[in-house]
Amino acid sequence: MTIQPTLTPQERQADLDLQQLKQLVGLVEYDASGDPFPVTGWDAVVFVVGNATQTAHFYQSAFGMELVAYSGPETGNRDHKAYVLKSGSCRFVVSGGVDPASPLHDHHRRHGDGVSDIALEVPDVDRCVAHARAQGAKVLEEPHDVSDEHGTVRIAAIGAYGDTRHTLVDRSRYTGVYLPGYVARQSEYVRRDGAPKRLFQALDHVVGNVELGEMDNWVAFYNRVMGFVNMAEFIGDDIATDYSALMSKVVANGNHRVKFPLNEPAVARKRSQIDEFLDFYGGPGAQHLALATNDIVRTVDAMRAEGVEFLSTPDSYYEDPALRARIGQVRVPIEELKKRGILVDRDEDGYLLQIFTKPVGDRPTVFFELIERHGSLGFGKGNFKALFEAIEREQERRGNL
Ligand SMILES: [Fe+2]
Repeated sequence: MTIQPTLTPQERQADLDLQQLKQLVGLVEYDASGDPFPVTGWDAVVFVVGNATQTAHFYQSAFGMELVAYSGPETGNRDHKAYVLKSGSCRFVVSGGVDPASPLHDHHRRHGDGVSDIALEVPDVDRCVAHARAQGAKVLEEPHDVSDEHGTVRIAAIGAYGDTRHTLVDRSRYTGVYLPGYVARQSEYVRRDGAPKRLFQALDHVVGNVELGEMDNWVAFYNRVMGFVNMAEFIGDDIATDYSALMSKVVANGNHRVKFPLNEPAVARKRSQIDEFLDFYGGPGAQHLALATNDIVRTVDAMRAEGVEFLSTPDSYYEDPALRARIGQVRVPIEELKKRGILVDRDEDGYLLQIFTKPVGDRPTVFFELIERHGSLGFGKGNFKALFEAIEREQERRGNL
């Protein structure tokens, strides 16, 4: 039996509909009744950064996100500041230590700016944790209630790769803006005249980089502990360039809202970009977050106007007759894509447009992808080689190839 997906409260609030979500993030029908660890969707991505105050400004000005909540010394949180930002159904929390003894400083010392928590919305926190524990997962936080005048949130956390965690959240009995301890707060940042209402509607996938030989263990973790299913699989030569290579497998929750590609370095002539990440992040971690947009051209133009830097794509990519034959007709003229360095990929289900930013922090670690899907549920396999060659040019400029 398959069951029509329903909208999450976050999606409803963002005025998204099911048809749009099928297109934007490849949402599918599925039957949760046999799922040992049902996941509804993303709850939030939590970043630990060196300066949350300025990072919050960056995501408002450059990524068009809206500030919706805040926690910090003024609200009784003397340890750190945290800003909650939204775009469509996607929620980021950027946090940074205030108290010199804050554990967030330790995280930042080890990893630099990065993702500490990929929080997921689940209908039954206790059931998920019981299953995870029985499957050998590390339970970092036992299920417990947190309450304020807006209701109660049931919450727990399990460990994932490296220092990354998955907080599991059931907010069905809560009406507040984020979590107890946070107050509603609106942007003081004023959008430029004519700026789009938002630059992206949803989070599509979050990629994890893990050490050589660990990818299959993490695929098995998501299969066994969290009931995720395997999606597209790319191995070895598919995404090898002359210099560096990686292996990648993709797992997804039942309804495909949550998709986790997992990369490990592959042996090659020179150091893989995954090795560079592992060195500079200090171990496994979230490498990139893909943001779903229904107009990638407008989004890229708006971000570039605010100073966001994207990887360049060689002109040869667009002039290659094989590419033109492979991609066929797409929504945007190739000349427009070429001007902006937007990549195209097509598979049996349709096509997608995508582009990658340069790392957004000081270390060559976390970056973003923008993705506009038209039927394709893939991840741009056909673009991997072109993309990695572009990444390696940057790696070489940093002296790390
Ligand atoms: Fe991606």
